[in-house]
Amino acid sequence: MIRRAKGTRDILPPESRLWAAVEEQARSVFGGLSYEEIRLPVMEPTELFVRGVGEGTDIVSKEMFTFPDRKGRSLTLRPEGTAGVARAFIEEGLFQRPQPVRLLYIGPMFRYEKMQRGRYRQFAQIGIELLGAATPQADVEVLMALHMFLEALGFDDLVIRLNNLGDPEDRPRFIAGLKRELASHKDELCSDCHRRWDENPLRLLDCKVPRCRELMLNTTPVAEVVSDEARAHVEEVSAGLTALGIPVQSAPRLVRGLDYYLRTAFEIVSPHLGEDTAIGGGGRYDRLISDLGGPQVPGIGFAIGEDRLIDVLPSGFRDRVLGVRPVVVLPAADGAETAAMKLARSLVEHGLEVRNEVTGRSLRAGLKWAAKVGARAVVILGPDELAVGEATVRDMDSGEQRRVELERVAEELTAQD
Ligand code: HAM
Repeated sequence: MIRRAKGTRDILPPESRLWAAVEEQARSVFGGLSYEEIRLPVMEPTELFVRGVGEGTDIVSKEMFTFPDRKGRSLTLRPEGTAGVARAFIEEGLFQRPQPVRLLYIGPMFRYEKMQRGRYRQFAQIGIELLGAATPQADVEVLMALHMFLEALGFDDLVIRLNNLGDPEDRPRFIAGLKRELASHKDELCSDCHRRWDENPLRLLDCKVPRCRELMLNTTPVAEVVSDEARAHVEEVSAGLTALGIPVQSAPRLVRGLDYYLRTAFEIVSPHLGEDTAIGGGGRYDRLISDLGGPQVPGIGFAIGEDRLIDVLPSGFRDRVLGVRPVVVLPAADGAETAAMKLARSLVEHGLEVRNEVTGRSLRAGLKWAAKVGARAVVILGPDELAVGEATVRDMDSGEQRRVELERVAEELTAQD
């Protein structure tokens, strides 16, 4: 037997319905705020992520699926969506459109990670990006959109954790202070942190090793050493969210696993998954597009991990989606097939979900099968019924049966809804 590649998943029905329903909700909420879908390649030149996400990040240094194409060019399966959006923004001249540009993407991402709950090598993200607006109001809108989406799915226990990473100009000062504070404990840091120390010291704050974490807790938060402008920006974002009744938690030691963030950075965590397994994250990236050779265009956005989101989906939403039960159409007479197929067509046109019996089961076996697939009703087309242009409609919960004219079956079944 050939097995799926490690870290990939098969999303089977009926679970796949949840995915479709969540995506539909995303299109509805984000679409309502004019975030329009962009469909991007899943493979990009490796250099895009090296320059965009950052060479010293775990994603780029350890987690990319990178391979040469047949001409020896290095390609990478996208580990995230923002760098691709920025590339397309430059390459497709989206800066020439009326600004700001609002984009939505839904699709697979790839990271070579150790497998554990909520951590896959192929996973899906739902993300939005708002490009061309540098104001705190842009951040407020993006976070409001996030909150609206999560509320529409019925979440009431997710927490938005917000930090201020300051501007790139604030970094050297922060990093010098951080290193000073950690200097006497440097030999206690893990080997990864020793590498980070020189290559990408901000990442020290992101280490998951308990002793490193403990040491980081005693350092001065980055938000305390940022410029007045950066401070005012994130304070305004916080105040804007509070005014909208959107709760956010301050997270002074939150840094993100990608290098492009400045000022606003946030994550969404669930009490069911813990802080290391965020449902989503995002922030502002005002230098990304110019760093990739484009114009000076600011941006902010986030991505939600769809696998994780579905893992902790509120039961109300789950039950509503998975609770839809089909109507079985069961031809139980010679020559009933066409009448059954016509009936199925008409029921679907009336918005019902139909499951046809097409394997030639007898009435008895057909009813058994209908119970197994969770049918709410079975429409039986037996010889007696067919002779007078009727069908028997059986309610599978009460066991009650009624004879109904064929033209009235749809009406009868939709009336019950
Ligand atoms: P990220 O925090 O790297 O941000 O990923 C966003 C979300 O993707 C995570 O919070 C998580 O839910 C999900 N995710 C990441 N890795 C995995 C994995 N191995 N298995 C399952 N889910 C995973 C970004 O990717 C940024 N591009 C977000 C962004 C958009 N920032 C600005 N705009």
